[in-house]
Amino acid sequence: MKVSVIGTGNMGRGFAARLVKAGHSVSLLGRDAAKAAEVAKEVGAVAVSAADAAKAEVIVLAVPYDAAAPALKALGDLKGRVVVDITNPLTADYMGLTIGHSTSAAEEIAKAVPGIKLVKGFNTVFGQVLASCQKVEGGRDVPAYLASDDADAKAVVADLARSIGFAVVDAGGLKNARYLEALAGLNIYLGYGADLGTGVTPVWLPLAG
Ligand SMILES: NC(=O)c1ccc[n+]([C@@H]2O[C@H](COP(=O)([O-])OP(=O)(O)OC[C@H]3O[C@@H](n4cnc5c(N)ncnc54)[C@H](OP(=O)(O)O)[C@@H]3O)[C@@H](O)[C@H]2O)c1
Repeated sequence: MKVSVIGTGNMGRGFAARLVKAGHSVSLLGRDAAKAAEVAKEVGAVAVSAADAAKAEVIVLAVPYDAAAPALKALGDLKGRVVVDITNPLTADYMGLTIGHSTSAAEEIAKAVPGIKLVKGFNTVFGQVLASCQKVEGGRDVPAYLASDDADAKAVVADLARSIGFAVVDAGGLKNARYLEALAGLNIYLGYGADLGTGVTPVWLPLAG
C-alpha cells in the first residue's frame, strides 16, 4: 500500500520504519527537508514534496496536534483520502489534555479538513513501543484502538495496522476519540508520572476461566 507519513519525529520515524519493513511503499514529509531526507534514508522510505505526499492511499499524521490540520491543509486537495490521526492534544508539560469531554483532537481535525476519511488510532502506543516492535507479555500483539465514522476507512487502516504487527480493536465512531485521547493521557501519566516506564501499553484482557 502507498502510505505517506507526515512528521519525522519519534512516531513518524517509527511508523515509516515498520511500514517499510512490512513491504509498504512509504513517503515521508517533514517541515525540514534535510531531516526528512536523512530519516527517509535511514528507514528505507522516500522523502517527498507535499504534492506527492497527498497522492498516498493512506496518510499518517505524526505531528503535534496543533500542527495537524495546517499540515494536512498544506497537502492540497485531500477529498476522500484516508487519514490516520495519532495525535494527542497534550498540555505543555505532557500531563494533561488541552481539549476533551465534549470534543477531541480527531473531531477537530475532521472539522478543519472537510472531506477526509479520518481514523483515530495508535495514539495510545508509546513511541518506544512502536520502535521496539515488542509484543505484550504472553505474546499478544500490541493493540491499536481504531475509531472512525467511516467503516471502509477503518477497515483499510485495520489491515494496515495488522500488516505491521498490531492487534486491532474496533473502538467505535470518531466521537470515541475522546476516550482514546484520555486513555493516552492516563498511559502517559502511568509511563512518566508514575514511573512505570514506556515499555507498557493499554490492553483489555478477558478474565481467567
Ligand atoms: N511519542 C509518543 O510516545 C507518542 C505516542 C502516541 C502519540 N503521539 C503523538 O504523535 C505525534 C508526534 O509525536 P512525536 O513523539 O513523534 O513528536 P516529535 O518527536 O516531537 O516529532 C514531531 C514531528 O512534527 C514536526 N512538527 C512539529 N511542529 C510542527 C509544525 N508546527 N508544523 C509541522 N510539523 C511540525 C516535527 O518537525 P521537526 O522535526 O522539524 O521538529 C517532527 O517531525 C504527536 O501528536 C503526539 O501527541 C506520540
